[in-house]
Amino acid sequence: MAMGNVIVGQSGGPTSVINSSLAGVFKTARDRGAKKIYGMRNGIEGLLEERYIDMSEYIKSDFEVEVLKRTPSAFLGSCRFKLPSCEKSPETYSKIIEVLRKLDIQHFFYIGGNDSMDTIKQLSEYAKANNITDITFMGVPKTIDNDLAVTDHTPGYGSAAKYIGTTLKELVRDALVQPINVVTVVEIMGRNAGWLTAAAALAKGDDCEGVDLIYLPETVFDINKFVEKVKDIQQVKKQVVVAVSEGVKTADGKYVCESASSSAMVDSFGHKALGGTASTLANLLAGELGCKTRPIEFSTIQRCASHIGSLTDVTEAFLIGAVAVKAAAEGETGKVGVFERVSQNPYLVGTSIYDVNAIANVEKTVPKEWIINDGTGLSQEAIDYMLPLIQGEVYPFMVNGLPKHIKL
Ligand code: F6P
Repeated sequence: MAMGNVIVGQSGGPTSVINSSLAGVFKTARDRGAKKIYGMRNGIEGLLEERYIDMSEYIKSDFEVEVLKRTPSAFLGSCRFKLPSCEKSPETYSKIIEVLRKLDIQHFFYIGGNDSMDTIKQLSEYAKANNITDITFMGVPKTIDNDLAVTDHTPGYGSAAKYIGTTLKELVRDALVQPINVVTVVEIMGRNAGWLTAAAALAKGDDCEGVDLIYLPETVFDINKFVEKVKDIQQVKKQVVVAVSEGVKTADGKYVCESASSSAMVDSFGHKALGGTASTLANLLAGELGCKTRPIEFSTIQRCASHIGSLTDVTEAFLIGAVAVKAAAEGETGKVGVFERVSQNPYLVGTSIYDVNAIANVEKTVPKEWIINDGTGLSQEAIDYMLPLIQGEVYPFMVNGLPKHIKL
């Protein structure tokens, strides 16, 4: 049976492969005979303002689907918008349903992280409570942070981890050049979950000394101990490389970066805008140790470096978009597509769908037992978990020596 009209939105921080999931939703819905495939401009926030596009007007060929898969950032635009509760703002929900009815939508897809899955949770609950049975609401997971519950891993993480492992290998080579004391402090995203910072451990190998210290937000950051550890390493070697999460906190619960920026912006989910941890620590070390220090913030580059994307990640991101469409066509609602690791070696994953209530607003952190060396390193188990996710290369289509992208 043909699918009827579909609408899809992107939400939260972008990734290198969120557009591959969009391509998965678009192509699968088109192949299953969807009449119209709309895209929300800037997620639910744009939908409330009746801003949307007919995606078929922009993605006309299979080649454009392939370019979309290789284009970083959110093609449709994103938002960080928390739906107010239905009790607080029933008019928000009636407005959304009114717009969906106007477009004759049967299937609603939202690509996002644990905060964005709250939108699917709220809307599917509203639909159920109001006996709206002809619209399905499905979540498609994404986040570089890899902090979604239930799923083995989240699309976006593998490519960001590959960028981090690769760039740290390159940085370590550079850091070792001068015969003087230098401490390089690299700041990695991930807020309260250290999955991305853990990827710094991937840099170590036969051809790379690796990073000396890795600090995840899962363990309390002790500033004095940190300075002592760097001092100890300097007894043995001149150049020290440290990877640190943007979200490390001291025992009083304060982010290390808060001492640098006291007026951090807070989004509608209550998350503070982080950044500045590397500078804070590099300044501190320069003062304490009297040596050269260099802070490096990977910042948004780690989530848009699609030129070094993981083929596994791009492929799985597309697949999970397709899984959501298939499930919706079969009448599922209030669910999210998830991955199950069937085998580690060889790497095999299966997909299924799971109740959004177990995923929305829940943060999955790195298991404590994977964090070793007094909170400064990662176990072999952690590396074995990460390695399959960064496998394979996906090259952009190159034009004039630069990657080709697709934009609205
Ligand atoms: O949620 C994904 C993420 O990339 C986090 O790792 C990071 O803290 C946050 O987004 C940054 O968000 P923004 O770019 O909106 O400041």
